[in-house]
Amino acid sequence: APVGLFQSGGLSSLAVGVWLRELPTPARHYIADIGQADPPELDALASSVRRFGDESVVVDLRPSIAAVASDLLRYRARHDGGYWNTTGAARFVLVSGLAPLMRADGCGALAHGCVGGGNDQRRFARYGAHLAPDLPVVEPWTDPRALERFPGRETMLAAVAEHGLSLDPGSGAERSTDASLAGVSHESAELEDLETPVTRLDPRWSEWPEQATAEPETVTVLFREGRVADLDGSGPDPVEWMKRANDLGARHGVWLRDVVERRIIGTVCRGVYEAPGLELLDRAWTRVLQASLDGASRELYDRLSAVLGSAMYEARWLEPAARAAREAMDRLVGEIDGSVTLSVHRGVVRVERMKVAGPVVRQTRFGSGGNRWS
Ligand code: ARG
Repeated sequence: APVGLFQSGGLSSLAVGVWLRELPTPARHYIADIGQADPPELDALASSVRRFGDESVVVDLRPSIAAVASDLLRYRARHDGGYWNTTGAARFVLVSGLAPLMRADGCGALAHGCVGGGNDQRRFARYGAHLAPDLPVVEPWTDPRALERFPGRETMLAAVAEHGLSLDPGSGAERSTDASLAGVSHESAELEDLETPVTRLDPRWSEWPEQATAEPETVTVLFREGRVADLDGSGPDPVEWMKRANDLGARHGVWLRDVVERRIIGTVCRGVYEAPGLELLDRAWTRVLQASLDGASRELYDRLSAVLGSAMYEARWLEPAARAAREAMDRLVGEIDGSVTLSVHRGVVRVERMKVAGPVVRQTRFGSGGNRWS
């Protein structure tokens, strides 16, 4: 049976494709559109894989990553330093979206290009075991033979060029970047040195606040039943409002988290994150929560939010504690309606005005003497 390979088009997973060929082990490459680029160059990647002689398929997972981004916001499921867990979310979406296809296509194992010891390797292992327990997960970068064949970037680049495989342009550089509709993660040897100033970063989507457009912009976010229902005419489809929120935040310099985080295996590392859409929407959502929840509910919300932030980071989103936390959170926020008008300018987000409504608020108003917005 062939191996189902999670193919991102980055240097590492392309080199894994070459490695599997040389073993030889037949492989099918699964390429997901998770909004990593607009427009995506995934068809070029897929045809280069076919010319190389392997089967490949492109799958549109933008609705799934957008739905998970909507959950991240609803639960404020962040990790150390306010990192929005965008890479953890993308791994969840990739395995839950592609593993069932791999199995249906007759694949006998799952393979990916994540390096040993990193979070992403643990995430593929955990979600793989949960969602496709019958399929072993192949991790070439923990195999000494693969490391001997590809001791560094130069040998990988040479192999990828030799086979004419279409390399993601962002992946030729030293820096390791991971992108989806939810946001962009940057890690690298250079950034991992805590003395490297964050301004050394070349953001993929975003403007630095100082270079952002001088014109402020005003935008209204509508919430229905605890989720974004509209952003300036986007309508309720999360793919649409995430795109608009990303564009808006990116162009006005609202995006940056520069974080020193604890990895799953306990090491500490520096990561820099662009999540313009989530950062922007969170300013509105936080305000709605403040206006809607009574004190005890708010405290519970924050605790469960921390539980869910860890669960997404550690790839435990499907485990019982995370499921229970999500159910409780849905009861806390599932009836909240509201609208918030924000003004956005050079990295600063201001709440101009807002309205909230819904049973939670009525209860709060009864107990507290009222809020004057509803
Ligand atoms: N440290 C972040 C996380 O674990 C980002 C990982 C980025 N991954 C990558 N392949 N560049 O979620």
